[in-house]
Amino acid sequence: MRLVLLGAPGCGKGTQGQLLAEQYKIPEISTGDLLRKAVAAGTPLGKAAKAVMDAGKLVSDEIVMGVIRERMQQPDARQGFILDGFPRNLAQAEQLDELFEELGRPIDLAVLIEVEVDSILQRLLGRRTCVSCGASYNMFYAPPRMDDSCDVCGGRLKRRSDDNEETIGNRLRIYETQTLPVVERYREQGRLRVIQGSGEIQDVFRALSKAVEEVRATLGSRDRSAAIRRAVARKQNTAADGSAAKAGGSGKTTKKAVAAPAAGKKAVAKKAGAKKKTQVKKKTASKKKTVSRKKAVTKKTVTGKKVAKKKAVTKKVSAKKVAKKKAVTKKKAAAKKAPVKKKTVSRKKVAKKTTKKKAAKKRPARKR
Ligand code: AP5
Ligand code: MG
Repeated sequence: MRLVLLGAPGCGKGTQGQLLAEQYKIPEISTGDLLRKAVAAGTPLGKAAKAVMDAGKLVSDEIVMGVIRERMQQPDARQGFILDGFPRNLAQAEQLDELFEELGRPIDLAVLIEVEVDSILQRLLGRRTCVSCGASYNMFYAPPRMDDSCDVCGGRLKRRSDDNEETIGNRLRIYETQTLPVVERYREQGRLRVIQGSGEIQDVFRALSKAVEEVRATLGSRDRSAAIRRAVARKQNTAADGSAAKAGGSGKTTKKAVAAPAAGKKAVAKKAGAKKKTQVKKKTASKKKTVSRKKAVTKKTVTGKKVAKKKAVTKKVSAKKVAKKKAVTKKKAAAKKAPVKKKTVSRKKVAKKTTKKKAAKKRPARKR
């Protein structure tokens, strides 16, 4: 999540930014805090910034850009950040866009916290900060238990050097002339959300969280599809690199593969095709082998069976023939041995037959 918090001095950028940082586990980066640290450390940058800050004017863009660039490149800012009080003029907003382009991380959302001027004065004049742990109090809204010591660590509470009426007046003028155009820029880009900064701190935080969550929901799907695209590209590149390296015969990636990923892809496709062909050939060959082996086995068994059948049939036939022959020979032999019985018809029977025939011949003649 890359967020920008905008608003007049004392609107609650720091207070809300810290709450968001806790919730989303990303750092809150405040240019005001970074500059104050440099001032406290007495660095050349801090010395140059101090007078400008005390006057309520803007520190030079060059210094601020140097500070912010360095901070955003720290490891804890890789997953996102909340920018508090930056950008503060159009030049900074443009440079920030360029920097985000360089880092490949555009801003997701800009939130403007709106508060009336009256509350701003009270908030800033009543603000106290612990010099040891940085805890923030307000003498009107959230006073410490003891007037000038921190509830958390007992450290000394201090008023900021620019929280006086004169400087606050200057800061407000600078905000209207230089920072409001930045607000308009984000509005035109469609990246701006406006929330009400008056009311209880927790109520403001709820409204802010809601705005952030709405944007996060849309970003979630966008991030997921971007992640998928990146993963696909990585896979394709790895495949192209791998094939190019193999083609080169060494483990190193060849120049050709880096310069022409399309050629790499073709090589991979070609190789894959060749591999497939060989696989298909091998498969068909082994299939053929199995089929012919099967056929051979079937032939063997079939012919074997046929031969056995034939043999059995021939055996049967010859056995029958032999048996028949034997029977015939036996019959003939028996016929030779046995005396031939001649049919003898008695004379009486012959005479009877002849008389019967004659009688029959006479009967039809009588009828007529
Ligand atoms: P910077 O530190 O950024 O000051 P600012 O913009 O004037 O804002 P503040 O920090 O004063 O207010 P805030 O909005 O953070 O409110 P906070 O949460 O603290 O800048 C300081 C100076 O540094 C500039 O003037 C400039 O010189 C220089 N600088 C910084 N950035 C720069 C840049 N980009 N370019 C050039 N120069 C730059 O709240 C204020 C008080 O109100 C607290 O006491 C808090 O407890 C209280 N409060 C907060 N919310 C509520 C609430 N809802 N109800 C009641 N009290 C509340
Ligand atoms: Mg602040």
